Amino acid sequence: MKMQNTYHQPSKLVVSKPINPSIKSNFHIPCHFFDFLPDMSFVLSCDFEILHSNLSAAHFFGKPADEILHSNFIDVIPKALQSKFTDAFQRAFKNVEYLSIETIFLSSIGIETPVQLFISPFSNNHTQPSNCFVFARDISKQKEKELDLVRFANVAEYTVNPLEITDVDGKIIYVNPAFERSSGYSREELIGKNPNIFSSHKHSKSFWKNMWNSIAQGKVWIGEVQNRKKSGQLFYTELLVSPIVDGNGKLVGYFGIHRDKTEEKKLEQQLIHAQKMESIGLLAAGLAHEVGNPLTSISSLVQVIQRTSVDEFTNQKLELIKSQTNRISRIIRDLVNFSRRSTYELQSTEINKILKSAIEIARVSKKAKGIKIEERYSDKVPQLFLVPDQVQQVFINILINAIDAMCVDASLGKYFKTPAVINVQSKFENGSVNVLIQDNGVGISEDSLPRLFDPFFTTKKIGEGTGLGLWVSYNIVKSFQGEILVESEEGEGTTFILKFPINSDSK
Ligand SMILES: Nc1ncnc2c1ncn2[C@@H]1O[C@H](COP(=O)(O)OP(=O)(O)OP(=O)(O)O)[C@@H](O)[C@H]1O
Ligand SMILES: [Mg+2]
Repeated sequence: MKMQNTYHQPSKLVVSKPINPSIKSNFHIPCHFFDFLPDMSFVLSCDFEILHSNLSAAHFFGKPADEILHSNFIDVIPKALQSKFTDAFQRAFKNVEYLSIETIFLSSIGIETPVQLFISPFSNNHTQPSNCFVFARDISKQKEKELDLVRFANVAEYTVNPLEITDVDGKIIYVNPAFERSSGYSREELIGKNPNIFSSHKHSKSFWKNMWNSIAQGKVWIGEVQNRKKSGQLFYTELLVSPIVDGNGKLVGYFGIHRDKTEEKKLEQQLIHAQKMESIGLLAAGLAHEVGNPLTSISSLVQVIQRTSVDEFTNQKLELIKSQTNRISRIIRDLVNFSRRSTYELQSTEINKILKSAIEIARVSKKAKGIKIEERYSDKVPQLFLVPDQVQQVFINILINAIDAMCVDASLGKYFKTPAVINVQSKFENGSVNVLIQDNGVGISEDSLPRLFDPFFTTKKIGEGTGLGLWVSYNIVKSFQGEILVESEEGEGTTFILKFPINSDSK
């Protein structure tokens, strides 16, 4: 860059004279040499008097060099920073060493400019230094860039959006704290890894190929992705991937910014599920009605024929028909009971009491013999307006499922884990009564989990389960504006959490 100067012509050789011969050393330097420097340069006496300054300094301070000469260097530094400069200056003198510090220069109209000072004491006659070169570099642009970097670094560090940066080979070189929180991996675990460490394997090869094709062409790619956390849980994000190009247009890496959609997705799935349950409920009620009537006719006819027939073979087959129609009747009764639930009356209900009675009933079953049921009741649980029989039915369904999940062979006293324990707990939290029923049974597979509350979904042998228990329970709890949540790990056990919100009539 060409310096503009209106004050000083550097063409002739200028040799400075000692300014105050009593304290200054002989100072003979071809000073025009410094006028070619883009940085400001000064020669100072040991008491900060400016013995020389170059063109850049004149330009910076907007004064001819003559006016700068003999002034005190300290005056161009703001008061608050003067002692930092004098300390460094004196140290450089004392130790005869080169020092560099950052400070600020004040222009004649009070504008502050950050500068980097290079302080170098020297002597002309090989004795203790008596003068000092001070070079000053305007670092305001560098400081602005640093500030920009600090701003961007802060945005990256504090944004709630998970952010990752990779090199050109796709290896992770940066993740922000939001990314660590979402993925469950620490920064150290991710640096150097390929982002496919999060792969849920739920996307096709062409999905990722499409992404790479886009970004390789310098385009931004946006898509919805399903990833897997370190814990194995899925997390959904909207991902934007963009190439990073340097000042020369060279590709130096990629950055990916995620918008966490896990909660959104959960709500969406809950909504779809609730809608599905509602329509299934309507269908089931209609079906129960349609099937119930002809079934009653079949049962009555079977009884009539049984009474009149003496043929043993016929009677045997009729008995079989009877047992099968009874089974259908039981299923129909469940459906009908549920579809008629509005006739039940709401009563002030003590959840703890209902829970205790449900446990008593569940304990009676043969399978429960070797199972320990640990109960913890909170005495803070308020009374809720519910239908006690229905709530009891929900607890029994879930307890029986837990017992089934723990039992391998009850007659041999064989359980999935020993000791086989069911933990039951009631709590009053955040305005709702929560009941936890936790077992250490087989657990539920990831594939079964989304279908758990579907009617007729069962993993039990034919005749052992109809798959209506949880469907009925779900609908009962929903009818009281409650929630059923399930947490399960295959091979470890299952926890059902039932939440009953406190209603206006609760005491
Ligand atoms: N605590 C549990 N541990 C493991 N699996 C469970 C648990 N609770 C429910 N399940 C699974 O959910 C399925 C559905 O349960 P649901 O109660 O609806 O039907 P079911 O128990 O099979 O039959 P039923 O209609 O007799 O209750 C079960 O077959 C089982 O696979
Ligand atoms: Mg069941």
